Amino acid sequence: MRETQRDFELRTIVRGWRSQGERIALVPTMGNLHEGHLSLVDEAKRRADRVVVSVFVNPLQFDRPDDLDAYPRTLDADRRALEQRGVHLLFTPEVDLLYPRGMEAASKVSVPGLGEMLEGAARPGHFTGVATVVCKLLNLVQPDDAVFGEKDYQQLLLVRRMVEDLHLPVRIHGVPVVRADSGLALSSRNNRLSDDECARAAQLYAALNKAAGLLAEGAPVDVVEAAAAERLGQRGFRVDYVAVRRASDLEPAGPDDEEVVILVAAWLGQVRLIDCVRVERA
Ligand code: PAF
Repeated sequence: MRETQRDFELRTIVRGWRSQGERIALVPTMGNLHEGHLSLVDEAKRRADRVVVSVFVNPLQFDRPDDLDAYPRTLDADRRALEQRGVHLLFTPEVDLLYPRGMEAASKVSVPGLGEMLEGAARPGHFTGVATVVCKLLNLVQPDDAVFGEKDYQQLLLVRRMVEDLHLPVRIHGVPVVRADSGLALSSRNNRLSDDECARAAQLYAALNKAAGLLAEGAPVDVVEAAAAERLGQRGFRVDYVAVRRASDLEPAGPDDEEVVILVAAWLGQVRLIDCVRVERA
């Protein structure tokens, strides 16, 4: 596996591959990699001849400085995992490369609507940070394919929307959530849970499944949302939202929408967890 922090080196390597007619896929990450990220790498390998993984903890997408500081940085372990998984190039830019004039002065990409609801409302500026850095990474690498996890479902839709709106020549692929045996969705934030919290965190997925069952039986959306929020509250979560939305654009789900997604964001102690399940209503 090759590795670079520099944009011109990245471009030279990628250009070399492309001149051989090879297809290139990008997996953008913030590091602290787990099996969820590695499933994105596997998908990228299925789609392309060469896989580039970026590891960049993007300050622009953090709404709280303590959250940015607490974000785990484990580059040595990440490098080993990526090497083992057969990644061809690891791109680890410094903040100065991506934000040479600082973050305030940087040109930004915002996605109205999708970027402002749910996670966007709970974490102001978060999705402008995500869209901006993903746009930069796509422009730097110029991949044919880019792969994102469905766990961050809103992020996946937002990236798709941005790519469409800005006519970026890349295909965006989503990969299903990878879960622990308990049902807990794998996330870098899980490392910050105590053993007790980690055991309780599995209730998030249990609540989503229960809500999915109610929806499938025809229960109204507001009843399902309220029941799930109450269940989580009783189990010690501080709920930011439980929302049943149309899977295609996250607008409120009407009675005729067959493809919906239930999204949840909730705190357990000091850790904010998100998860989602898709539901097909007959
Ligand atoms: O999902 C993430 O890890 C990040 O939001 C991403 C897409 C790498 C952008 O920084």
